[in-house]
Amino acid sequence: LFSGRVDFLLSAPQLKFLPEPIVPEIAFCGRSNVGKSSLLNALTMRKSIARASVTPGRTQELNFFEIGEPVQIRLVDMPGYGFAKAPVSVVDKWKKLVRSYLRGRQVLARNLVLVDSRHGLKDVDREMMKMLDEAAVGYRIVLTKTDKIKASHLERVAGEVAEEARKHPAAYPELHLTSAEKGMGIDALRAALVADALG
Ligand code: GTP
Ligand code: MG
Repeated sequence: LFSGRVDFLLSAPQLKFLPEPIVPEIAFCGRSNVGKSSLLNALTMRKSIARASVTPGRTQELNFFEIGEPVQIRLVDMPGYGFAKAPVSVVDKWKKLVRSYLRGRQVLARNLVLVDSRHGLKDVDREMMKMLDEAAVGYRIVLTKTDKIKASHLERVAGEVAEEARKHPAAYPELHLTSAEKGMGIDALRAALVADALG
């Protein structure tokens, strides 16, 4: 799976720069530093396609990557949210762009909400999940960096997140436990995304 070409397609700072909506898209949402780019790299088996193609720093764009096989899919690396000290104007601009994209995008097949397994859900994640519930596009919750914590801690956090997920109408009840570093949970998530794209 995903063994063919993977290309950086484009970076959209505003809605008018989005690519033509002709291929199923899967958006990666999550706080800054949660591991979005690392997960994208692990899923596509590229060491640094996400990082390499993206402007460093606090990117405010939607970055599109295209997979050719076994089915055409576009992975969308969203700007990270919840960074400290971002000016209100920047946060407002981000919210407008992300909300319009999530609500209006016909080809959006699925969303991923990445949550750091060490920290569990934060209020900014809950806000994001509410936005996704309203957009009525199903989302998978992915716990990241599971290699960094003990199994007992992971079990507790996973239980808490799963319980909250059940209160969100658009959230999948099953969590994905992953480590981009160790490759844990990556194959299963990749297979799920292919199924999502095939609809
Ligand atoms: P922004 O683009 O700033 O929003 O961050 P991001 O969500 O793309 O996070 P990124 O993938 O850049 O990862 C942030 C840091 O976490 C990096 O130092 C990664 O090496 C580290 N990291 C990501 N995934 C894992 C993981 O599974 N295990 C471990 N140990 N570290 C990870
Ligand atoms: Mg990133």
